[in-house]
Amino acid sequence: HFILGVLSVLSLLHLPLKKMKTLRETLREKNLLNNFLEEQAYRLSKNDSKITIHPLRNYLDIAYVGNITIGTPPQEFRVVFDTGSANLWVPCITCTSPACYTHKTFNPQNSSSFREAGSPITIFYGSGTIQGFLGSDTVRIGNLVSLKQSFGLSQEEYGFDGAPFDGVLGLAFPCISTKGAFSEPVFAFYLSKYKPEGSVVMFGGVDHRYYKGELNWIPVSQPRHWLISMNHISMNGNIVACSHGCQAFVDTGTSLIYGPTDLVTNINKLMNARLENSEYAVLCDAVKTLPPVIFNINGIDYPLPPQAYITKDKNSCISIFQGGLENLSPDNWLLGDVFLRQYFSVFDRKNERIGLAPAV
Ligand SMILES: *[C@@H]1O[C@H](CO)[C@@H](O)[C@H](O)[C@H]1NC(C)=O
Ligand SMILES: *[C@@H]1O[C@H](CO)[C@@H](O)[C@H](O)[C@H]1NC(C)=O
Ligand SMILES: *[C@@H]1O[C@H](CO)[C@@H](O)[C@H](O)[C@H]1NC(C)=O
Repeated sequence: HFILGVLSVLSLLHLPLKKMKTLRETLREKNLLNNFLEEQAYRLSKNDSKITIHPLRNYLDIAYVGNITIGTPPQEFRVVFDTGSANLWVPCITCTSPACYTHKTFNPQNSSSFREAGSPITIFYGSGTIQGFLGSDTVRIGNLVSLKQSFGLSQEEYGFDGAPFDGVLGLAFPCISTKGAFSEPVFAFYLSKYKPEGSVVMFGGVDHRYYKGELNWIPVSQPRHWLISMNHISMNGNIVACSHGCQAFVDTGTSLIYGPTDLVTNINKLMNARLENSEYAVLCDAVKTLPPVIFNINGIDYPLPPQAYITKDKNSCISIFQGGLENLSPDNWLLGDVFLRQYFSVFDRKNERIGLAPAV
């Protein structure tokens, strides 16, 4: 299977067990890495105060990828807009890793606005690593522009062969300047189900047409991370995990839902899933009979129907609940795209909160 390594934490459709070891390192990196954007957040600006809606392409429900440009004249790249990591990087023309031959590379010599900072960087992801150096240049997301934006240029890449994106645009840090023209320093995601088109990331406000009802706001439990407190996870009225409360990363760069192995195993057993080659296989007909898995966050129920937590893989069906997160902490969960397809999500840096509402 194709392995996508963006994660801040993980964005694998099917995570091989041998990759599990890297997870702890990844999460440690997430917490401790001196993120180079921390001091130099994206200073996005534009000349009017309207919301900017930027299209994303859904690759087989595995990754949501959008175009950005870097440099003068602009060089275009496909990136994952990742709320689970904090750095922007694209491949450099001098990169000799196999992954760089199948992706767009940035040529600094062709950009009159490029400045090299020179500092070496290494960034670890769930199933990949990049090494390179820092530069700065003009970065554009649609009609948004960030001048003298720091970014990484990779010279070596591991784990990104075949990825449907060239680089990653991390959004785990203050990314929208309040000094810009935006009326609201927020961004939001609508992730389409199954079909390639229709997904968007929006900056500077929220377009109400993408969700139903009211947004429920959840305070972020740790500044600098899109991490929230969860009360419990239940099925059929019984608490099946997170019984004393737990923490969950809300992560657009991760495809599935991850949690502690024993609790995930319990949930998978409740759906009569069988472990086959490190995946939990479920009878496809179970979609008709299984109850939703309900995430209670801030006192509100967020049900995930079986149609969302069981994916069809050729002829078999597989549970999207994956273990392995206990290495970080026994109380952590990771709510990836599977969850965010059901719930439109708003990331409000200024008020340090996340808004969720059923997606249209
Ligand atoms: C914003 O700038 C673009 C070009 O950069 C221009 O086409 C557009 O008319 C401007 N809009 C306003 C409201 O000034
Ligand atoms: C990205 O740009 C390419 C052309 O350069 C275009 O074909 C593709 O549709 C764009 N992707 C999105 C999500 O807009
Ligand atoms: C980019 O620069 C290289 C030399 O570094 C040159 O060969 C190439 O034609 C340039 N491409 C563009 C689009 O200017």
